[in-house]
Amino acid sequence: MEKIVSLCKRRGFVYPSSEIYGGIGGFWDFGPLGVLMKNNIKQLWWKTMVEEKENIFGLDSTVIHHPKVWEASGHLASFTDPLRECKSCHKRFRADKLTSEKCPECGGELTEVKQFNLMFETYVGPAKETANKAYLRPETCQGIFINFANVVDCMRPKLPFGIAQIGKGFRNEITTGDFIFRDREFEMMELEFFVRPGEDEKWHDYWIKERLKWHQEMGIKKDNLRLFEHPKESLAHYSKRTVDIEYKFPFGWAELEGIANRTDFDLKNHSKFSGKDLSFQDENGEKFYPFVIEPSIGVERIMLALLLDAYREEKNNKVTRVILSLNPKVSPIKVAVFPLLANKPDLIKLARRIYEDLRKDFMVAWDDRGNIGKRYFSQDEIGTPWCVTVDFQSLEDKTVTVRDRETTKQERMGIDKLKEFFENKLK
Ligand code: GAP
Repeated sequence: MEKIVSLCKRRGFVYPSSEIYGGIGGFWDFGPLGVLMKNNIKQLWWKTMVEEKENIFGLDSTVIHHPKVWEASGHLASFTDPLRECKSCHKRFRADKLTSEKCPECGGELTEVKQFNLMFETYVGPAKETANKAYLRPETCQGIFINFANVVDCMRPKLPFGIAQIGKGFRNEITTGDFIFRDREFEMMELEFFVRPGEDEKWHDYWIKERLKWHQEMGIKKDNLRLFEHPKESLAHYSKRTVDIEYKFPFGWAELEGIANRTDFDLKNHSKFSGKDLSFQDENGEKFYPFVIEPSIGVERIMLALLLDAYREEKNNKVTRVILSLNPKVSPIKVAVFPLLANKPDLIKLARRIYEDLRKDFMVAWDDRGNIGKRYFSQDEIGTPWCVTVDFQSLEDKTVTVRDRETTKQERMGIDKLKEFFENKLK
């Protein structure tokens, strides 16, 4: 983990937020490479979950909803963690994570357990009054439930169908840590898949299989993934059954994605609290509340799993090569273009032309610093799958070498073949 944290900072993936002021716990900023990787993850999720599915629609709702939403969803009453505070140093701890009756920091006496609500509060408008109190959403899916009737009216879908959303979530976690694993501000990718009651268990199994497949397609090793069935007593207040996809993090197996059967809890409660009928009328005129299957995952959490899973070191003659063996679709940079020597104008001119040309279709990096070996190593460390080198032969026959990150083998090919070559590789 330490190696990943340091690589992320050094190479521009992840920075501690507000670092110049000493940082702020549980908040992270994403640098030039981090933002590219995050965008790739979100695009790949959106492509699989929305674009490739006929019956799944997208949505982008607000971060702040009417406060009644959180009453109806049960979050005001139940979205809590058990908290104990040290009476001496005033540090706060998750009661369920404590292993002794004393403060783990100073040995002081602890308060009794109280329930701490994880929602961030804010005030809408200029007056800081109870009537104006609102919350930053702790999950994106409530925006989907409250827009259920809007989407049904516009799209006229048949069951089963889904509504998907990617957006920020906020949780005032009592303890953060493990780098970007548990944050106070993070991005969520959530699908609410509405099905006929009675068909919910079948669709739940379907989504567990689909999502497990997606993680493997993203490049995560099969052996580092497993399913965890939540025991009945630990289910969230809305869930009939929840299965997590867990990843083998360096600190142990932990939740990567949750796939819950939320039943008709949310639609029924929003109908009750809003007075608007959110039942669904099928093609036979039958009215009922659909059940909901919900695959839900945090972008930062899958990003961490992808980085950890891809990281490897190769030792060769006392030189260590660090490689991020990322799926090329996830890699921030797809191709790096180098002139063999930085002081030969002809090589630079041709290499710049190739670089400018490829940039129209792919995320491409330019590097003309140091020796060529160092440049390859530098790209390996950030997961760039291919490096194109322009050498003296290039000037004569319009060919270049393409070096593969995984094999380090170089293949010579015509400059006019490059675009097609990378397109095919990225398909
Ligand atoms: N709508 C369902 C829901 O919110 P959850 O299990 O609380 O369920 C879903 O969260 C996913 O969001 C988790 O599997 C995890 O990937 C991510 N997640 C939750 N809390 C997080 C946090 N504090 N920091 C980063 N990611 C988080």
